[in-house]
Amino acid sequence: MLPLLTDLEKRWEEGDLAAPLAVELARKAYPQWQPAFLAAPPGFRLRCHLIDDDAVRAGRLLSQIYWNEGIPLEEMVRAHRHSTAWVGLEDANGELVGSARAISDTAKWAYIYDVMLIDRLRKQRLGEPLFELLLNHPALRRCRTVRLDTKDAENFYLKFAFVRTELGPQRPWRSINLSLYRKPLPHAQPSL
Ligand SMILES: CC(C)(COP(=O)(O)OP(=O)(O)OC[C@H]1O[C@@H](n2cnc3c(N)ncnc32)[C@H](O)[C@@H]1OP(=O)(O)O)[C@@H](O)C(=O)NCCC(=O)NCCS
Repeated sequence: MLPLLTDLEKRWEEGDLAAPLAVELARKAYPQWQPAFLAAPPGFRLRCHLIDDDAVRAGRLLSQIYWNEGIPLEEMVRAHRHSTAWVGLEDANGELVGSARAISDTAKWAYIYDVMLIDRLRKQRLGEPLFELLLNHPALRRCRTVRLDTKDAENFYLKFAFVRTELGPQRPWRSINLSLYRKPLPHAQPSL
């Protein structure tokens, strides 16, 4: 294997935050290269870093799902482009068929959003490698707390050692969880 590719695998293993982009750029130049951490089920390809064009594809996929009802496509695109970690699954035609993303400070906290496979590919164990890749992404793997919300996929996440938050370690001091809910601004931001 070329020293450059060996070095990229090492950078990924070491958790270099710039590795995911570098790995995807190298895969474009060396399409035969298949690093072990991106091993995917036959006929599929895992992506450890997605780019602007993918955001439109992911936005289209994810605008159709119930939890994104009412969120304009351009805001979905913006949300994906500005995620700290964003991984995908492509089929043999290069179509994006699965996506998962997270906002992370890369050390303490991460929040996972928008985990989804297209309808016809669900319940075939494709979600597992996609989600595993997200959890192992350099921007997430060191985070001590990783949160998400789910309506009905709890069993899926239990396989990755998630627990209901109220059953996890409690702080020794009183702690009240607060949220700010705001109305959307009347005009979308001009630049995505
Ligand atoms: C959630 C999702 C990504 C899981 O991927 P998947 O490929 O369908 O799941 P897998 O085939 O890898 O399933 C692994 C296990 O999780 C379970 N599971 C998957 N989705 C589940 C769901 N919605 N509810 C309960 N269990 C689920 C499966 O039953 C399976 O368990 P088993 O080993 O006991 O049979 C996919 O089903 C999906 O996109 N669902 C619609 C969008 C969604 O709800 N996303 C999650 C939002 S929090």
